[in-house]
Amino acid sequence: MNDVTAQVRSPSQATKRAVNLKFSHMGISVRNLSAMEDFYTNVLGFTVTDRGHAGGMNLVFLSRDPLDHHQIVLATGRPDNLPGNTANPQFGPSINQISFKLGTLDDLRHVHAKLLEYGGESIFPANHGIAWSIYAHDPEGNNLEFFVDTDWYIKQPFLIPLDLTQSDEQIYEVTHKMCEESEGYEPYSQWRARIGQEMSPYVERA
Ligand SMILES: [Fe+2]
Repeated sequence: MNDVTAQVRSPSQATKRAVNLKFSHMGISVRNLSAMEDFYTNVLGFTVTDRGHAGGMNLVFLSRDPLDHHQIVLATGRPDNLPGNTANPQFGPSINQISFKLGTLDDLRHVHAKLLEYGGESIFPANHGIAWSIYAHDPEGNNLEFFVDTDWYIKQPFLIPLDLTQSDEQIYEVTHKMCEESEGYEPYSQWRARIGQEMSPYVERA
């Protein structure tokens, strides 16, 4: 780039913002549509908002929020055999994780119980410092995460086992102390305010 080009480009780049967008939903290719629909509705509580056939696929649209027609669409066409993740079999070969945010530790315990009752595999609770999580597989081995944000930021990745049989008070106390002793510790609100300055705004719904 010559000097003239640099002078022309610099002002526009300085003021340019990324296009407004917000992550909305995803689709999962499935082998057994009815088994997957059963899991996402009866275990995770999604509502079927529509279903039908298009593009050679049978489709089931799922949502837990009336503002989103679908948050997940299940679509037939998954091959019988997919290779596993070569680094860690808990995680998916293409989609590493599909993560759901919950409100409280009791919500997390509730999901944990539902997953155990369903007979899910590869269920393990983890403490990330910034979040309390449970990882589990859906019926076709997609890696799901259910998590509750804590009030603290620490540098990621960070993962130790989480004991959900402890009381909320114990979990808060242990996690806060651990975070205070970890790299990058600060209140999550402070971290959010700072990182928010680096992010283009998305469009808020009315
Ligand atoms: Fe995650």
